[in-house]
Amino acid sequence: MSIHGEIKRVTTHTLQWMKQHDEKISMLTAYDFSMARIFDDAGIDVILVGDSASNVMAGHETTLPITLEHMIYHAQSVVRAITRCLVVVDLPFGSYQGNSKEALNTAIRIMKEAGAHAIKLEGGEEVVESIRRIISAGVPVMGHLGLTPQSIYQFGTYAVRAKEEEEAETLMHNARILQEAGCFALVLEKIPASLGKKVAKELKIPVIGIGAGMHVDGQVLVMHDMLGITKDFSPRFLRRYLNLYDDIKSATGRYIADIKSKDFPNEQEQY
Ligand code: KIV
Repeated sequence: MSIHGEIKRVTTHTLQWMKQHDEKISMLTAYDFSMARIFDDAGIDVILVGDSASNVMAGHETTLPITLEHMIYHAQSVVRAITRCLVVVDLPFGSYQGNSKEALNTAIRIMKEAGAHAIKLEGGEEVVESIRRIISAGVPVMGHLGLTPQSIYQFGTYAVRAKEEEEAETLMHNARILQEAGCFALVLEKIPASLGKKVAKELKIPVIGIGAGMHVDGQVLVMHDMLGITKDFSPRFLRRYLNLYDDIKSATGRYIADIKSKDFPNEQEQY
């Protein structure tokens, strides 16, 4: 049995149902109206308005510079496009780590001003007070452990996390804490598949992986990577479904050539 084609609106409860019935959850990032409309129309379960917008939309090297105002702008554009999927929005770096009151204010702005359905934030025990406060205000929270890009300067590299036992145990401990605090789902980024399996097996909430192997409850990719718009990013976990960089470049080349050769517009393409 699959709930995929049947439901009108994906909620956090739908995701829980999917986990219980072994139906994998599909999630993609989106940052604008047009792409969100296509993904929603295709039947994606969850759109993440990720702070990866800082990289793929704004061209920053890390996710750190993006502001709350920018995240709200992207989230508003996505929410206007969708009719079915769940929209989760990242809390940007610096907007929730300070204290739980600040975290709640950030979450409330995203829910109120963008019309998002849930928020995501990075970290474990160190942010649990903020998570509890946000959830107690009625806002669903998705956790994020493993490679957490907002901490990149602490990690030093984008290498696979939690390969050693000590870090794996800490991750497991934090995953339990996030579930107990009331998170409705958890993203695990770039960790060994065996650890992804262990977390997904123990936790009752859905675990969605990006480079966390095949045994978790769902998968997420950054849309620019999945569609082959980013050219020089080829981690092992990435499956490219299109090569849009080359396709768009070639189409643009043909457009330029048609203008230069005076082929475009022709008689049928004018008034
Ligand atoms: O911002 C983002 O795109 C993310 C995904 C990588 C999970 O957090």
